[in-house]
Amino acid sequence: MSNADLIEQIKQLKQERNAVILAHSYQRAEIQDIADFVGDSLALARQAQAASCDVIVFCGVHFMAETACILNPSRTVLLPDTEAACSLEASCPADELAAFLEANRDKNYYVVAYVNCSIGVKALADVIVTSGNAQTIVAACPPDRPILFVPDRNLGAWTAAKCGREMTLWDGACHVHEQFTRDKILELKAAHPGAPVVCHPECQEPIRLLADHICSTEKMIPYCQSSEAGSFIIVTESGILHRLRKLIPGKQFIAAGTEKCSCAECEYMKLNTLEKIRNCLRDMSPEIRVPKDLRLRAEKPLLRMLELSK
Ligand code: 13P
Ligand code: SF4
Repeated sequence: MSNADLIEQIKQLKQERNAVILAHSYQRAEIQDIADFVGDSLALARQAQAASCDVIVFCGVHFMAETACILNPSRTVLLPDTEAACSLEASCPADELAAFLEANRDKNYYVVAYVNCSIGVKALADVIVTSGNAQTIVAACPPDRPILFVPDRNLGAWTAAKCGREMTLWDGACHVHEQFTRDKILELKAAHPGAPVVCHPECQEPIRLLADHICSTEKMIPYCQSSEAGSFIIVTESGILHRLRKLIPGKQFIAAGTEKCSCAECEYMKLNTLEKIRNCLRDMSPEIRVPKDLRLRAEKPLLRMLELSK
């Protein structure tokens, strides 16, 4: 079936089901184009919380759909492909975090969890952050408690340096952002002199040191819009380039590649397809559900984050 036919079917089903389609900026171009809203984790969490329709089709990865469920439990949340996982989430299993906290009870850690984690980890956290608000949230953490930041050691190290606050970092990382190499970026800088390097904080420090600007996917848009530069080297998952090119048509965006590929792709984000969106709306499945007790515990640190980053 052609994309045009699939899009027509999705439109019809969306109306019948009273559904909204939320998509992360790393989704395939054709998914971003049919979504009602495209954004980063923070903007998507806000949209999910405010959604008044019956069904939310979450085009992103599992923890994002789970977050939508936690924040708006009376809606049906569909994830087109339940295999859409996240290596950062996998790097911090809830039982390992619970065991670490138990073994370090005397430290009385204030747990700051990056939203890229499971509901079990969120339930153990004091506050959640996204890459878009990590500095604001950490700056508001109790000054008399040591901070444990999970699961991303790169976002954690960047936030700690920016806030001038020492933090214990969980040893987790995103496999996509850890693939970038200095050599590739230096090559691109030589080929595009004057193009600022814009990098996501999930990148390792040697990469961050080459960046002119470090920010969440969402903040890349106003930065590139307002910059006087005409071209940019974008160091994050390549899905954001579609959005940047669409919103800022007069400028050039160059994807920073890896040793293996000329662009960096998150295979989990790319599992969602138009066909799977049509199927999930037709079958009302796969649906993401969360246990009530865990939901209530995970909701608290999420609401604290949303309150602090208004
Ligand atoms: P953003 O919140 O910046 O969109 O990041 C989400 C993510 O998964 C980055 O890899
Ligand atoms: Fe997770 Fe990395 Fe994919 Fe983002 S890019 S969803 S952090 S695996």
